[in-house]
Amino acid sequence: MEAIRIERLSKTFSNGRKALDEIDLRVAPGEMVALIGASGSGKSTLLRHIAGFAVSDPQPSRIAILGRPIQENGRLVREVRRIRRDIGFVFQQFNLVNRLSVEANVLIGALARLPFWRRITGRFPRSERALSLAALGEVGIAEHARERAATLSGGQQQRAALARALVQRARIVLADEPIASLDPESSRRVMDMLRNLNRDHGLTVLVSLHQVDIAMQYCPRTVALRRGKVVYDGPSAALTPALLQQLYGDEARELLEEPASSDAALSPQQATPPDPTNPDTDAPSPQQRYAFALDPARLA
Ligand SMILES: Nc1ncnc2c1ncn2[C@@H]1O[C@H](COP(=O)(O)OP(=O)(O)O)[C@@H](O)[C@H]1O
Ligand SMILES: [Mg+2]
Repeated sequence: MEAIRIERLSKTFSNGRKALDEIDLRVAPGEMVALIGASGSGKSTLLRHIAGFAVSDPQPSRIAILGRPIQENGRLVREVRRIRRDIGFVFQQFNLVNRLSVEANVLIGALARLPFWRRITGRFPRSERALSLAALGEVGIAEHARERAATLSGGQQQRAALARALVQRARIVLADEPIASLDPESSRRVMDMLRNLNRDHGLTVLVSLHQVDIAMQYCPRTVALRRGKVVYDGPSAALTPALLQQLYGDEARELLEEPASSDAALSPQQATPPDPTNPDTDAPSPQQRYAFALDPARLA
């Protein structure tokens, strides 16, 4: 059973813009996959559909989360809320409640799991508070638990958002350009945390990124979108500048350029080698894992 399975997903906005064009995608449990593409290629639209925040065109299509459909043929299923509990969504702009404490923001992750009376009184069981403090410790900001979210730096807020996904006990994290608003050092920390959620907690991670070098550094597999189509799905390591040029033409520059305040820690030359301590030894072979490595028919 796949963590995420997408079949024939298309999305046309009311202005006629076709943002997603017959997307087929499978992500296995425990994978950490990058979603890349120039701005406007459909990354956010795709992630929002997977989370059930948006519905596809009313043609035959399906998105299933851990074996359960979340939307079919342009309609959300009735149990959408229950299925969404397995998904933690991380936004570029953090989406914390500014006036609440960091701890309260993280506890929001537990809300959907708690009985109704807890939700309306906002009284959290001790076990949930312990879990949220542990999660904040894990992302390295336990000492800020009592501070208002607004007082944290962008990187710290994003780490709180990851702690919230942990407290939610999400099994899948969808992160939409989570580091686009961050400086290189904060970006590295947030990506490290995402990797920890993947490795240490077994969460499936699908993260959209603007830059290929980060994808190569953190994600074994990359799915590349161009104009709403999957133009590449395969090992991140194979995404050389030459291949990107072939896939994207002039748009390739947008995916390769260094951020203004570039940092050596984020350069592709420093990509970490495969970790021998990673227990992911019975991972499927690339042939099994990827729908296709590079299908020229999709480049048209
Ligand atoms: N609500 C909307 N209404 C109309 N067009 C939209 C809407 N949202 C996104 N689009 C268009 O869909 C395409 C894909 O957008 P998006 O998914 O935001 O791309 P990305 O996240 O890769 O930058 C773009 O052309 C964008 O302008
Ligand atoms: Mg986007």
